Amino acid sequence: MSQNAIMNDRLLRACRREPVDRTPVWFMRQAGRYLPEYRAIRATNDFLTMCKTPELAAEVTIQPVELIGVDAAIIFSDILVVPEAMGMKLVVEEGKGGPRFPSPLRSTTDMAQLSSEDPSANLTYVFDAIRLTKKQLAGRVPLIGFSGSPWTLASYMVEGHNPRDFRHIKELMYSHPRDAHALLEKLTNAVTLYLSAQIEAGVDVVQIFDTWGGVLTQEDFAEFSLKYIRIIVSALQKKEVPIIVFCKNCGHSLERIADTGTNVVGLDWTTDIGHAREVLGQRVALQGNLDPIILFSTEERIQKEVAAILQKFGKGNGHIFNLGHGILPETPVENVKAFVRSVKTLSTKYH
Ligand code: CP3
Repeated sequence: MSQNAIMNDRLLRACRREPVDRTPVWFMRQAGRYLPEYRAIRATNDFLTMCKTPELAAEVTIQPVELIGVDAAIIFSDILVVPEAMGMKLVVEEGKGGPRFPSPLRSTTDMAQLSSEDPSANLTYVFDAIRLTKKQLAGRVPLIGFSGSPWTLASYMVEGHNPRDFRHIKELMYSHPRDAHALLEKLTNAVTLYLSAQIEAGVDVVQIFDTWGGVLTQEDFAEFSLKYIRIIVSALQKKEVPIIVFCKNCGHSLERIADTGTNVVGLDWTTDIGHAREVLGQRVALQGNLDPIILFSTEERIQKEVAAILQKFGKGNGHIFNLGHGILPETPVENVKAFVRSVKTLSTKYH
């Protein structure tokens, strides 16, 4: 594990609800196509090549730290490299609606073929990218590692692409719950090993993305998603690295999410952060939650919305500013800079 001292440790302090001079800010998909400097590298490299070439991954991971001034870096990779490491063919074609698995898991035979081995053996490029990024960051800001949640990974693996109606994964869950649980258990084991290895390689914080927990009933969310996130969180707690759990569209289950033992609960924009603090503020830190589409408006409007979120959270510790979901590729860079500037200047009066 890296023993590098972190100079800007606001994120780490906020995760532990310790005092900071201002609210730390980073955002999901911050290394991406809204940055011309990312597009320049992307022009001559396909997405998976970038993920699998540590020099390129490190370079784009650090871009938003240098160009936008965020308080954390998040390692450039994708949640879907885990199913690939477990034996599924992953295809990312230009302009074809994102990554997909041409042979989705649709039968018990398909699922049985999925490797139960530690996927980390096939993900050494991620750990190399983490080590190189840590070295190049030289303690400027913390580095965040991540994984998809078992439920979100299973959704992609069974649907085969960015899910729309979740017909196949829900059919598996409703009609063959034992098979669904067996798949989720296998993924839980894989994600635990993968995140542990990221921590060994040097990440300072980990985030679990449950992008699709919000398509379930509250009971099914608890049974098919949170249950497994909780197992991962308890296994990682021993590592003493803060954990962020982001479940999109799950504001109905704030307490249950905190019950996983996570240090930080990530919020999308549909949850009122003031309400979340009222419910959870004594137990966890909160991350969020500006609607990314606000970044298409004006600097004044952005400032107003940032101010409103800061005010709703109120004075005190334990807030990490973020968007409620990933930034869109068409977002004007000037507005992204205005957003980060607004958080930095407006938040001082709350500390
Ligand atoms: O946040 C970051 O800057 C770190 C890198 C990161 C990426 N994907 C890079 C990426 C992270 C944390 C992810 C997570 C991810 N990937 C999630 C969970 C978070 C979320 O957004 O809900 C999901 C569901 C995926 C799956 C995925 N990867 C999709 C649906 C797509 C296509 C949509 C799109 O934005 O093009 C990707 C591709 C992807 N992952 C890109 C990036 C920068 C775009 C690749 C490109 O340059 O063409």
